[in-house]
Amino acid sequence: MELLLEGYSLSSPEETRRAGALLAPLLLPGDVIALRGDLGAGKTTFVGGVAKALGAKDDVISPTFNIMKCYFDARPSLYHIDAYRLEGQMIDIGLDEAIEGDGVSFIEWPDYIRPLIPKDHLEIELVHAGDARRMSVRFGGKRSKELALRFKEALHG
Ligand SMILES: Nc1ncnc2c1ncn2[C@@H]1O[C@H](COP(=O)(O)OP(=O)(O)O)[C@@H](O)[C@H]1O
Ligand SMILES: [Mg+2]
Repeated sequence: MELLLEGYSLSSPEETRRAGALLAPLLLPGDVIALRGDLGAGKTTFVGGVAKALGAKDDVISPTFNIMKCYFDARPSLYHIDAYRLEGQMIDIGLDEAIEGDGVSFIEWPDYIRPLIPKDHLEIELVHAGDARRMSVRFGGKRSKELALRFKEALHG
């Protein structure tokens, strides 16, 4: 993965949601976004900003107990996956269909399902910085590079 943006400051949950909302209009069907970061880093908050901007009516909640939640009223459809419960297990619950499908996929705890994630994906890492957060962005291929560049532009514009 190549680093494009490092340590971008997000000083409130609203700013995390806003970052998601800025990424949303740049997304194309098939895009895969891995969200890395500790528990409480803001991963689900970020997806909430994306979902609202894509037109999903339901609020995004942590899908930890569901593993995957689909927002079919979003455009494109949004798949929110939390792989936390899948650590060390090889369960076929159709994640690959979602990832290869015509929606956009956001994956929390991507390291737990690494073999299912295409190399050409965007990676957003959130880390605690006192009460705030810092965001870094990496890409792994041609499409995700374009997405990363446009996201960086949107954040700085
Ligand atoms: N930039 C930020 N600054 C401060 N708090 C934040 C920020 N982004 C999110 N939060 C808060 O962090 C908490 C955990 O967020 P959540 O999205 O559930 O984390 P994760 O999904 O990574 O476990 C929530 O209370 C959320 O409002
Ligand atoms: Mg979460």
